[in-house]
Amino acid sequence: MILCQTKTELQNALKTQGANPIIGFVPTMGALHEGHLSLVRQARRENEVVVTSVYVNPIQFNNAEDLEKYPRNLERDLDLLKDVGCDIVFAPDNAEMYPEKPTETYNFGTLETVMEGAFRPGHFNGVAVVVKRLFDLVKPTTAYFGEKDFQQLAIIRALVEQENLAVEIVACPTVREKDDLAMSSRNTRLSEDDRRIAPQIYKILRDCRDLTDVFTPAPLKAFAEEQFRKIPRTKLEYFEIVNAKTLQPIVNWSDCPRRVACVAIWLGEVRLIDNVKI
Ligand code: PAF
Repeated sequence: MILCQTKTELQNALKTQGANPIIGFVPTMGALHEGHLSLVRQARRENEVVVTSVYVNPIQFNNAEDLEKYPRNLERDLDLLKDVGCDIVFAPDNAEMYPEKPTETYNFGTLETVMEGAFRPGHFNGVAVVVKRLFDLVKPTTAYFGEKDFQQLAIIRALVEQENLAVEIVACPTVREKDDLAMSSRNTRLSEDDRRIAPQIYKILRDCRDLTDVFTPAPLKAFAEEQFRKIPRTKLEYFEIVNAKTLQPIVNWSDCPRRVACVAIWLGEVRLIDNVKI
């Protein structure tokens, strides 16, 4: 496995992989867990060359404390990536990624005015800037993203369409702990008590999935919000039942066949997101 910390090193490493290889790319912010590794394994099965980026992108954080406390452990990440057969790791620093203050601005319309976009101003522009730059450098055939960040996936697909990029986006299912908590790098920041409580989040989402015959969307949303508010030490940021394509809240089940219930909730000091198809 080749570790590259500069764009030049990355370009040189890519040149050693033969002419026009089929490249699978997994962008990450490190602190890798089984969710990331499942993406890399899938990329390994489906491509000739696998590239992973490990970069905590400061411009997608709208909260300075979240950025400062974001877990980082490059040595461990490298060991894990080597074990799952990654060929090239790109781990730049901020000066390499942003030699000058980035000025690109993207417009994703109503995709970015709801949920994460509403609560984290500037977040998706920051994601789009870094992902576009990474795509330009790696030139992947296929890039792999987890469905846990459901809205991010929609934004990336929109970016690819807007910029006419020749990369296929593959959505991979959320990987969960044994007790069904969605895997996230932020889970390591949960206190022991909060970690015990955290699986209740997905339990409520699952209950919602099972109650679509009983409730129409608005009462189901109200029911879920009440359940989330009952979890100790939590602060619900949003719960929405949305059209999986447009991400707009739905009024009737018949509005669209593909629906997702999405939640963002603070548990102690940690903000968690999760979703379920319903
Ligand atoms: O999902 C993430 O980890 C990040 O948002 C990404 C796609 C690596 C961009 O920094």
